[in-house]
Amino acid sequence: MGLTAVKDNIYWVGAVDWDIRDFHGYSTYKGTTYNAFLAIDEKIALFDTVKSNFKENLLYHIRELTDPKSIDYLIVNHVEMDHSGCLPEIIKEVQPEKIFCSPMGEKALNSHFDTKGWPIQVVKSGDTLSLGKKTVTFLETKMLHWPDSMFSYIAEDKLLISSDAFGQHIASTERYVDELALGEVMTHAAKYYANILHLFSPNVQKLLQQVGELGLEIDMIAPDHGLIWRGNPGEIIAAYDRWSRRETKRKALVIYDSMWKSTTKMACAIAGAISREGVSVKMMNLAVNHRSDIMTEVLDCRALVFGSPTLNNGILPRMADFITYLKGLRPKGKIGAAFGSFGWSGEAVKHLNAAMEAMEISLVDEGLRVKNVPKDEDFAKCKELGKKIGLAVVGMG
Ligand code: FEO
Repeated sequence: MGLTAVKDNIYWVGAVDWDIRDFHGYSTYKGTTYNAFLAIDEKIALFDTVKSNFKENLLYHIRELTDPKSIDYLIVNHVEMDHSGCLPEIIKEVQPEKIFCSPMGEKALNSHFDTKGWPIQVVKSGDTLSLGKKTVTFLETKMLHWPDSMFSYIAEDKLLISSDAFGQHIASTERYVDELALGEVMTHAAKYYANILHLFSPNVQKLLQQVGELGLEIDMIAPDHGLIWRGNPGEIIAAYDRWSRRETKRKALVIYDSMWKSTTKMACAIAGAISREGVSVKMMNLAVNHRSDIMTEVLDCRALVFGSPTLNNGILPRMADFITYLKGLRPKGKIGAAFGSFGWSGEAVKHLNAAMEAMEISLVDEGLRVKNVPKDEDFAKCKELGKKIGLAVVGMG
């Protein structure tokens, strides 16, 4: 079997990274792909490239179809290094007639590489490029998720090459979403959205509106990571609409860490009481859950309940890590509460409350502290707190 032709004369020529497990703080335990696409028309265009150490994979795939020197145009939808790392070497090999990128893309290329002599041509939203029978329309997608990001749309093929948007970190020999279990792909698409794009949800809403207004017919979305959405990509577009509107469920997360299990015991009692109010609860022990997997659950939850014992007048290191990560991703419209055990000073709850206030998470309670090991009267207070949180979640709709 040859390379996947995603459309007539448009081929996947990217690379599969089976081994990557960490993407600057995002756990990629299924690996990923760096997708690149080659359109062969009267002019030959390569859409995006790959990470520098996968240059040979990209060239190997291109050579199965054509001599790399026959490529006329390079289209740089996004300058982040996982899609541009091998660009200098590819440019040397290909010697393209033109390199197309957005206005911010030109700035990004100039600040990443020595671009002297590169035939860069800036394109803006709505600009078109004829390849012969196929026409590429460019659409700037600033801050999705970098200032330079853009989409390439080929009307004749109803194909949207969407850069990082709609991607998932999954390594596979399959190229299409419908060749794997949809539920699994959607989970990874949600994880991708929560960790990379959630911060830019207002831009996603604007983009969806813009795509609607332009009346683009799309029957395939080809992202730069993971699997391609073909047939009816409505499912992922609807999910992006839901996620970017920050739609939530009757769901609470109890995110906690513990030293000698006292905070764990409190977490269990609080979670049980929340669930008795008809709220779905997920226990997220920081000792066993990766920050980026917790973020996936944050996407559609209403309440964030943080538990940490006090260590050296502060919170436990794994909690500090998660709070820092969450703060950067700016959760909106959530409610919260804090709890934790302590030995003598007991500042953890105060720190957690301050962190939530800084993130504009509305506190439903001043928080609950327990000295050393919880007793019956402490469990009663945990249940009270859980009930209060549960009722607040239900009250949100
Ligand atoms: Fe996949 Fe923003 O790079």
